[in-house]
Amino acid sequence: MLLNLAVLPGDGIGKEVTTEALKVLQTIASQYGHSLNYEEALVGGAALEAEGVAITEATLNMCRASDSILFGAVGLPRYDQEPMERRPEQALFALRKTFDLFSNLRPVKNLPVLQNASTLKPEVLNGVDLVVVRELTGGVYFGKPSQRYTDEGGRKAVDTLPYSEQEIERIVRVAFELSKSRNNKKKVTSVDKANVLNTSRLWREVANEVGRDYPEIELEHMLVDSAAMNLIRKPSAFDVIVTENMFGDILTDEASMLAGSMGLLSSASLGSFKNASGGQFGMYEPIHGTAPDITGQGIANPLAAIGCAAMLLRLTYGLEKEATAIETAIENVLQKGYRTPDLYESGMTKLGTAQMGDAVVAELKG
Ligand code: IPM
Ligand code: MG
Repeated sequence: MLLNLAVLPGDGIGKEVTTEALKVLQTIASQYGHSLNYEEALVGGAALEAEGVAITEATLNMCRASDSILFGAVGLPRYDQEPMERRPEQALFALRKTFDLFSNLRPVKNLPVLQNASTLKPEVLNGVDLVVVRELTGGVYFGKPSQRYTDEGGRKAVDTLPYSEQEIERIVRVAFELSKSRNNKKKVTSVDKANVLNTSRLWREVANEVGRDYPEIELEHMLVDSAAMNLIRKPSAFDVIVTENMFGDILTDEASMLAGSMGLLSSASLGSFKNASGGQFGMYEPIHGTAPDITGQGIANPLAAIGCAAMLLRLTYGLEKEATAIETAIENVLQKGYRTPDLYESGMTKLGTAQMGDAVVAELKG
């Protein structure tokens, strides 16, 4: 099979971890007789500097011509004071909108070998295996008006949180289909703030309607504040969580601590697009961001990015064996005691970013 990818490493540790993911993809390609072909482009702060915008039309076209996107991270402190339209994050929003990547899957699993790396007690973490399905192209991230202004009352700002029934329906359906395909608790938890927000009341109504098509799956509704609490109280009770854009953003950073580190969480953003090879177009991205505090030190954890390579092989190409091989290799290197600093405990072997990538490659090669 020809793996034809667009690679957008972005800023900060994005570049460092993407390099390792590519190393692993290359290894898998040679082992299983695929050929890996990719083109790389700048996004985020790197693109703002060199090309004047967070992502160029040429880069979007390059992505269009590929089967899927392997993404690093965007965002740098130096842009914090810039207006929204001149920020690195615009690259992400442009990609999400252009390719209609409305469905963001963020799996969170607790590996017993990492239980000590989490701030939570092992007995709370036992059996955690959930996926957050985050709506990614709607809500307050994209609602208009969104602006700052000044009137006689002083400085003001407004953001808008809109949702349509179509937007809710399609994402809730993704969650039910996912729960159905997982050999787990057959439960969808729909998270909202229906005691306050109109969009949440519509969300709940539509979720109930979609739920009628899936009598074999339990549908539970949970308010977002309560969900934040239950994620650390009894996280093993969740199977698939479905929620709107901003709630999903917040809850997934929280949920990453169930795995032990942000450096372990991969994500897939999928939508309605098929790629040129007839497969599912997607963007695969670690959730950890650019981590400016450790950029350039060669100590970032590449396992989330490497996990993205596995998700890409599975969801875009249907290469289940190859995806599982990567996931098993990740578990095995952790089992052997290899740790990047974010997961380090005494008695383990501390590795840098490239060494961790090499360890996964070595594991794959057996
Ligand atoms: C994420 C990130 C982004 C988001 C930022 C970088 C804009 O936090 O993908 O979770 O909020 O969507
Ligand atoms: Mg986030």
